Amino acid sequence: MDSTHQPDSILIVDFGSQVTQLIARRVREAGVYSEIAPFTTAEEAFARLDPVGVILSGSPASVTDEAGPRIPATILESGRPMLGICYGQQALTQQLGGMVLGGESGEFGRAFIEIEDQCALFDGLWKVGEKHQVWMSHGDKVTELAPGFHPVASSPGAPFAVIADDARRIYAMQFHPEVVHTPDGGKLLKNFVRHVCGLAGDWTMAEFRKTKIDEIRAQVGDGKVICGLSGGVDSAVAALLIHEAIGDQLTCVFVDGGILRMGEAEQVVGLFRGHYNIPLVHVDASTLFLKGLEGVTDPEAKRKFIGKTFIDVFEDEAKKIGGADFLAQGTLYPDVIESVSFTGGPSVTIKSHHNVGGLPERMNMQLVEPLRELFKDEVRELGRELGLPEVFVGRHPFPGPGLAIRIPGEVTRERADILRKADAIYLEEIRNAGLYDAIWQAFAVLLPVKTVGVMGDGRTYDNVCALRAVTSTDGMTADIYPFDSAFLSRVATRIINEVKGINRVVYDYTSKPPGTIEWE
Ligand code: XMP
Repeated sequence: MDSTHQPDSILIVDFGSQVTQLIARRVREAGVYSEIAPFTTAEEAFARLDPVGVILSGSPASVTDEAGPRIPATILESGRPMLGICYGQQALTQQLGGMVLGGESGEFGRAFIEIEDQCALFDGLWKVGEKHQVWMSHGDKVTELAPGFHPVASSPGAPFAVIADDARRIYAMQFHPEVVHTPDGGKLLKNFVRHVCGLAGDWTMAEFRKTKIDEIRAQVGDGKVICGLSGGVDSAVAALLIHEAIGDQLTCVFVDGGILRMGEAEQVVGLFRGHYNIPLVHVDASTLFLKGLEGVTDPEAKRKFIGKTFIDVFEDEAKKIGGADFLAQGTLYPDVIESVSFTGGPSVTIKSHHNVGGLPERMNMQLVEPLRELFKDEVRELGRELGLPEVFVGRHPFPGPGLAIRIPGEVTRERADILRKADAIYLEEIRNAGLYDAIWQAFAVLLPVKTVGVMGDGRTYDNVCALRAVTSTDGMTADIYPFDSAFLSRVATRIINEVKGINRVVYDYTSKPPGTIEWE
C-alpha cells in the first residue's frame, strides 16, 4: 500500500482561508484522518487519498471573479459527500447551477441562524424552529440554489445559511463551523464526517504517529537529519518522533548559551541520552554567548545576536558530525501563516523568531517538520503518546532567546544567575500550589533598576524582580493570572530572602494586548 494512501479519510480543499487548519483540527477531534490540499493540487491529492468525503474551505476570493478558484471537476463529479464552507458553499452553488451575488452588504462576526428543516448535519444537535449562534464572514452570498438543494437554515443576511442536497449528500453553509465562535461548529463537522460520510471516528494520535513515521521515512530515505533541541516540548516531540522513524540517522544538538532556566540543560541531556538513548551533542557555548552580549541593550540587537550565534554554533557542530541532509524543526501550525493565493500555489510565511533563520539555505538542507499541522495541545498529546514524561509535556513555552529577553538592559552571567534563582523559586511555589497547569506561562524578569531596601539593620541597594504569569490559549492574546495576595507575598519573601541581589519584587498586571507576554 502507498504509505500516503488513507482509505478512511477526508480531503479538505483549501481555497486560501486563514482558518482552514481549524477544519482539519475539528475533523481530527471527531476521530477522523484528514489532509489539506491547496485547490491547485487537490485533484492529485484526491486521486492519491481516495477520501470518503470532501470539505471545501472558505477563501478571501470571490466566485464572481472570473479568476476565482474553482472546485476541480473530478471532485465535483465524484459522487462523494461534500461539505462547502463559506466560499466552498458559493463555489458549489455556482458550479452546480445556482447563483451567487457579489456582496453589497455582508455579515461579519456573530450572527444567529434559524433552523427551518431537518438535515443530517443537525442530527442530535439542532431542531426546527431553534436559533443558534454562528460566525459569519462573507460579502458575497448565494441568491439562487442549484437544482437538488433546499434551504435548511437562514440568517437575516443569508437566506441560504445552510443548504442540503440529501440525495447527493452535498451540504453547505455560509458561516464558519470551524471557529470557536460557532459554539456547535465542531459537532456539525463531526456529524458530516461520521453520519454523512459514515466514518467510524476511531482515528487517534497513535494513528497520527504511525502516519508521520511513514512520511518521515519516505522523505528522509537514508539521509542524515540534525535537530536542534531548545529544551521545549515542540523540539523534543519532533526529535522523538523522528528518532522512532529513522533511529541513529538523527543527531540532536543542544546549544546551551548560558541563558537557560535552572536545571534545564541537565534535564534535556538526562532525558535524551539517559532515558531515550538518542545521540545528543551538548554544547556549552555560554562564554561565547555572554561575551557577545556584553554591552548589548537593544532588544532586537540581542535577538539578532543570539539567533546568529545559535546558527554559527549549530553549523559548527553539524560539520563535526559530517554534515546533514535535513534539518528537523518543531514548527507548529500557529507558527505557519499559510495562505493560498488564487493565482498560484500556496505562499508560506513563518514568524522569523520561531525559525532557525537562514540555516537550511546556508547549509543546503531540507526541512523535516512533522508537527506543522498540529496545535500546541495536540503536540502535548503526541508527546504523551511517545512516552515523554509529564513534566516535559506540560512545560510552559520558553522563548528561543531565553532569559536574555527577561533581563532588560545588558545581560551578564551574574544577572542570568540571579534571575535563574528567582525564577526557580517562583516556579517551585507555583507547582507547590498546584497552579502550574492552570497557567500558560509564568516567569521572573530581572529589571535593570536598583532600589533601596532595609534588611536587618542595614540599608540595601539591589535589583527589582518582576513576576509575570498569564493565561492564554495560543499566546496571541493573554490575561494576567489572578494570584491571591498570600501567594504573591510568600514568593516575594522567599525571593528576597534567598536570592542575593534582589531586594524588591513586583507583579506585572498587564494583559496582552496592550502588553506582550515577554518583556522584550
Ligand atoms: P510575546 O512576548 O510576543 O510572546 O507576547 C508570545 C509567545 O511567544 C514566545 N516568544 C518567543 N518564542 N522565540 C520563541 O521561540 C522568540 O524570540 C520569542 N519571543 C516571544 C513567548 O514566550 C510567548 O509564549
